[in-house]
Amino acid sequence: MITYTTSLEGISPDKLKGFFVGWQNPPWPETHMKLLENSSHVVLAIDDEKDRVAGFVTAMCDHVLSASIPFLEVLPEYRGHGVGEELVRRILDEIGDLYMVDFVCHPNMQPFYTRLGMRPSTGMMRRNVQHQKGPGSQGERDGTQL
Ligand SMILES: CC(C)(COP(=O)(O)OP(=O)(O)OC[C@H]1O[C@@H](n2cnc3c(N)ncnc32)[C@H](O)[C@@H]1OP(=O)(O)O)[C@@H](O)C(=O)NCCC(=O)NCCS
Repeated sequence: MITYTTSLEGISPDKLKGFFVGWQNPPWPETHMKLLENSSHVVLAIDDEKDRVAGFVTAMCDHVLSASIPFLEVLPEYRGHGVGEELVRRILDEIGDLYMVDFVCHPNMQPFYTRLGMRPSTGMMRRNVQHQKGPGSQGERDGTQL
């Protein structure tokens, strides 16, 4: 059964395996954990039986006018069952009524977000694939160091 939480209590990197599918330099689960800790809002979908995180969404918010949603991912084996939609609904609830809430997404994802009350926009972005793994983890894994 999938349950949802905004708490990181009891969450450790070993419960965060398998995310960042298709990324050239996917962050380690430890880096993923830091990313969750540093986000202003987080919603996790938990597979209670397997005791692992099945999906997550994060938000960065200034608590005045604006928020953005940088990450949304559901592990492939859990997709197509409404988990992604529920994560977005819940993070929007967490963020509350702000003037701006921005997502960047591929055009083929626009119907998904339109169903959730968002509308298409245009934007600009920068991506540095050398830093995709996160700070301090450019090389091979060396134990606990990030
Ligand atoms: C996008 C994502 C979070 C959706 O999670 P999910 O649990 O499968 O979502 P739901 O079951 O709630 O909704 C499924 C809907 O997502 C949409 N969708 C999912 N992946 C899609 C894709 N690659 N292209 C277009 N639409 C997609 C479909 O509209 C689908 O609608 P349907 O149920 O009518 O077929 C998941 O596919 C994922 O993690 N993808 C990889 C990461 C990603 O793309 N994140 C979003 C960045 S903007």
